[in-house]
Amino acid sequence: MNLKEKIAALKNEKNAIILAHYYQPPEIQEIADYVGDSLGLSQMAAATNADIIVFAGVHFMAETAKILNPEKTVVLPDLNAGCSLADSCPPDVFRKFVAAHPDHVVITYVNCSAEVKAMSDIVCTSSNALKIVESIPKDKPIIFAPDRNLGKYIIKKTGRNMLLWDGSCIVHEAFSIDKLLALYKEHPDAIIIAHPESEEHILNTASYIGSTSGMINYVKEYPTEKFIVATEAGLLHKMKQEVPDAQLVPAPAEEDNTCACSECGYMKVNTLQKLYNCLLNESPQINVPRAIREKALVPIQHMLDLSK
Ligand code: 13P
Ligand code: SF4
Repeated sequence: MNLKEKIAALKNEKNAIILAHYYQPPEIQEIADYVGDSLGLSQMAAATNADIIVFAGVHFMAETAKILNPEKTVVLPDLNAGCSLADSCPPDVFRKFVAAHPDHVVITYVNCSAEVKAMSDIVCTSSNALKIVESIPKDKPIIFAPDRNLGKYIIKKTGRNMLLWDGSCIVHEAFSIDKLLALYKEHPDAIIIAHPESEEHILNTASYIGSTSGMINYVKEYPTEKFIVATEAGLLHKMKQEVPDAQLVPAPAEEDNTCACSECGYMKVNTLQKLYNCLLNESPQINVPRAIREKALVPIQHMLDLSK
């Protein structure tokens, strides 16, 4: 049996499910039971009957799955699959920030640690952030953390004056506006689409701004057009599968890497071999201390209830 066949056999034997984010390497996306954005992945994690969840994504995503399923085994192929955005919000510093603004409703973007979620009133993802912010009464002041770019974008869309945490994603902040404009000159017929973790000057050039799933759905609406796509390059794999006639050009990063596009190093530490090993050994497991897990579940569940 090859590695893919071995994973499939082991998955059936152990009643496991493989959940993968769109930024995962193509060979992982291909063996996954579900590939999606952060919201879709948490909805799948909340609904599954599997005994083991193999989370092919990054740590905060697997942690969310564990919070929703404390009795299930949740494994991550490589514990080094972290997130620069989650790391930009250390729980101890955030605790002081929240304590300094006790009258504020705390909304946290799902890209943060369980400890930070445990200090929140409600969680959001890039696909429901606008809806979640708009669900808060207008007279209530809001703390929005940790992504300042998504926060600024929501302020612009809603007119809400939110207090922003100064965090960001190294991948989405790497897009170069000069290179993007030069690329657009080469492809003046292209439609620019962007993930809201990108900086304001990148977002200002975009005809569509949304989550990874939102971007795929937008491309589906114009299946024969050309798009410049400002998000992690892994998304292009699914887009090509779903909309084969669309022309897709990855937005260029400031420091060109080998593919002249942006790849998330954290997402890409997961490999098929590591995924097989973690399913076989049921390790490394994700565990969240009970006190944090119980507190963090409340704002996650609140988000899921509002996203039905
Ligand atoms: P999505 O929820 O849009 O898939 O975003 C996740 C992420 O980590 C973006 O960098
Ligand atoms: Fe985190 Fe950015 Fe990677 Fe998404 S792309 S997982 S926000 S570092």
